[in-house]
Amino acid sequence: MSSLANHQQYQQRINDFLAAKLENLVVNDKKLLDAMRYGLLIGGKRMRPYLAYITGEALGAGQSDIDAIAGALECIHAYSLLHDDLPAMDDDDLRRGKPTCHKAFDEASAILAGDALQTLAFDILVNHEFSTAVQPKQLKLIQQLISATGYQGMCGGQALDLSATDKVINLTQLEKIHSLKTGALLEASVLMAAECSLQVNSQEKLKLREYAQLVGLAYQVQDDIIDITSSEEELGKPKGSDLAANKSTYPALLGLQGAQQKAENLFQQALQALSCLPYNTLSLAEFATFIVKRSH
Ligand code: IPE
Ligand code: IPE
Ligand code: MG
Ligand code: MG
Ligand code: MG
Repeated sequence: MSSLANHQQYQQRINDFLAAKLENLVVNDKKLLDAMRYGLLIGGKRMRPYLAYITGEALGAGQSDIDAIAGALECIHAYSLLHDDLPAMDDDDLRRGKPTCHKAFDEASAILAGDALQTLAFDILVNHEFSTAVQPKQLKLIQQLISATGYQGMCGGQALDLSATDKVINLTQLEKIHSLKTGALLEASVLMAAECSLQVNSQEKLKLREYAQLVGLAYQVQDDIIDITSSEEELGKPKGSDLAANKSTYPALLGLQGAQQKAENLFQQALQALSCLPYNTLSLAEFATFIVKRSH
């Protein structure tokens, strides 16, 4: 992980930000709050926050504006994982090297913690003290998070993923599933951060979108690959879970080598998109490299 510039520093920053958010909640139900804490604060690479911070850094956005973007995205991500692991979905028992939330608590707590983390994401965006220049864009940011999260984004992708289980689908359908269930939040990490910059024009936003879509898709392609190639210890989640559940994945459709080639192609295209931008995009390029090299 240390291969990513400032990763630890940004990880610490977002962890502190999120811990403070939970700290400030009035305790109504301790078990629910504990389940939220478990799902949000224990482990996790914080890749969506990291991507938001490095995008903001490249484009000259204020870090305290990015805190809210990063925090909201990580809450949505954590919620998606709590629900993804449930027996009704992927039925997994291990996450981030620990029992999944529904195993450590119970199913109702994992469902409710996911629900509450989703709401917390919007709470953060609505109530954050954005800089004066970004305040007029707050509604736009909320709209971006809605479309990345809901029916048109992650949630819709998860539904397509479930309906593609035990079925043979084609590459176009698989690409759509991956782009929605995982790509949408990574794309939002870049585009919401770009929204906090005052210097980016619409042409540049199109190139950033292209980059973000490519790395977003590559992220899930690599997730499918490491489900086969990494150990349970490295992954912190069960190895071979996709195969066991007969999931539609890139390795299932193209074979392992075909999937690796696909990730490499996406990586090259992502670098190409970055090369059109008049900013220092070294960290974004390193992020793309990390994605296709990562083993967990
Ligand atoms: C896992 O996400 C699920 C996918 C969307 C591929 P991450 O690999 O980002 O998981 P954490 O947050 O680091 O645990
Ligand atoms: C994750 O897909 C997508 C979301 C959680 C939105 P996976 O089901 O492949 O993620 P892991 O492998 O369980 O982390
Ligand atoms: Mg899943
Ligand atoms: Mg899963
Ligand atoms: Mg997976």
